[in-house]
Amino acid sequence: MNVVQVYAEEISTQLQHVLTYDEIVKLIEKPKYQEQGDLAFPCFTLAKKYRKAPVVIAQEIAASLRNPLFEKVVPEGPYVNCFLNKQEVSKHILQTILTKGEKYGSHRIGKGEIITIDFSSPNIAKPFSMGHLRSTVIGNALAKIAEKCGYQPIRINHLGDWGTQFGKLIVAYKLWGNKEAVKANPISELLRLYVHFHSEAEFNPDLENEARKWFKQLEEGNEDALNLWRWFRDESLKEFSRIYSLLDVEFDSYNGEAFYNDKMEMTVEMLHEKKLLFESEGAEVVDLSEANLPLCLIRKSDGATLYATRDVTAAIYRQDNYKFKKAVYVVGHEQSLHFKQIFLVLEKMGYEWAKDMVHVPFGFILKEGKKMSTRKGKIVLLEEVIREAIELAKHNIEVKNPRLEHKEEIAKMVGVGAIIFHDLKNERLNNIEFSLEEMLKFEGTTGPYVQYTHARASSILRKAELTGDETNGLDDAHGWAVVKLLMEFPTIIQRSMQLYEPSVIAKYIIDLAQEFNRYYSHVKVLNEDNQINDRIALVRSVTIVLKEGLQLLGIKAPEEM
Ligand code: ARG
Repeated sequence: MNVVQVYAEEISTQLQHVLTYDEIVKLIEKPKYQEQGDLAFPCFTLAKKYRKAPVVIAQEIAASLRNPLFEKVVPEGPYVNCFLNKQEVSKHILQTILTKGEKYGSHRIGKGEIITIDFSSPNIAKPFSMGHLRSTVIGNALAKIAEKCGYQPIRINHLGDWGTQFGKLIVAYKLWGNKEAVKANPISELLRLYVHFHSEAEFNPDLENEARKWFKQLEEGNEDALNLWRWFRDESLKEFSRIYSLLDVEFDSYNGEAFYNDKMEMTVEMLHEKKLLFESEGAEVVDLSEANLPLCLIRKSDGATLYATRDVTAAIYRQDNYKFKKAVYVVGHEQSLHFKQIFLVLEKMGYEWAKDMVHVPFGFILKEGKKMSTRKGKIVLLEEVIREAIELAKHNIEVKNPRLEHKEEIAKMVGVGAIIFHDLKNERLNNIEFSLEEMLKFEGTTGPYVQYTHARASSILRKAELTGDETNGLDDAHGWAVVKLLMEFPTIIQRSMQLYEPSVIAKYIIDLAQEFNRYYSHVKVLNEDNQINDRIALVRSVTIVLKEGLQLLGIKAPEEM
């Protein structure tokens, strides 16, 4: 049940087709002040149709609305305000949550259809950047939210595993590399070789020629070149996998750029057939001036295909292979133009489904206001950052709860949860300031704060002898404030899906945790009176929703911390 729907239904029977049920749902709002009730229906739009003043219409509607879930319905100016029956509504909501458990808040909007989520997608032999971290965390949450909404997510890691840089790497490795060093520290060693190549090439232009030759060999399938490329890729992936396992993220596909090598010719041919390719300075391009976009480069004059060619090819492959209903790309906002271009190219190719593709951009991670860079020398090794967060979390636990069991495991949940929450709590397009100390605080708007609230509620439940089943509901003001939030969870999930915005859920669980802590400081939950079972029902419902909310963001909820 959703009280907005109940209210809308009641109003709808009064209005008899003047407004549709859906129109009524859209009009219903939350009154500004608690004293004005729980729901408000504005009558302005009705004035024209009824040829009456909204104030009069509000009075008429209010007089005839009755439902056991409503305590009273009163007109206030042009609004019809509804005061919900706290006891009845809370009984219903709490019972629903306790029966459904973690399934509370699920939707069937997705109808089991496929949504591909292209996220993380780091580049082989290069450090996993802060941008890739954001993409990983946001994409992972969106996959879970999509699943909760009834979609079937396909998680795709579109690895940057092809390009002329591999020619350079092969040359550098053959000249200055050694196997053990790469095995020990794949990314930093490969990066070192790459950087070294560039500083040497400044004085020795022959190196560039060598590199071009090797890349050509690679493209032509030379075994020696292929083996090295495969090895660089495997070693880099091993290192990325450690990060993914720390973050508890998995993928359904690691088909990266190289996977499309043998499929690109087909794309170019199709573009030709559809007469979409033009020659521009020897290169082949698609003209997108109709949308005021720059030319989309498909093939360079030397025959090489590009990032865009691969993405167009990948989209066609994914539609053929997965029949996606939606295709989402979680990539930084600096690539917005690229996605506009490839979506339009696909549309011009006549693909209906091009309209189902969405770029979900996000802002930068900053350190003291400056972009965190992974360029020469200044590399921030992500794995180290995550391990540091876990160490700090362990330290906090050591101070707060030295006798806690499974400290290591819980410190991991808290440290990783802190990083994820810090990323997801603000709208994704905002830049975020990176500060481990901030994100690990047990107070304020942090992951550990929500986890801590959940653990505290769990510990109340461990002490309780009742289960909260068969609750009669509550009618005190603090409990009601919590119930009202619990009631919103399904709508919150739907909104975060519509907006591709995990922050909607993050903000919500902060509100819920704060409201619950307020409740806890005002009410003696375990006091032996005739409402104890109902209060336990409330506490259990809160743990269920906090845990599920965290889960949707990719964060674990320990029972103790
Ligand atoms: N590897 C790219 C980068 O690091 C991101 C790829 C995003 N996905 C895509 N289909 N283009 O910038």
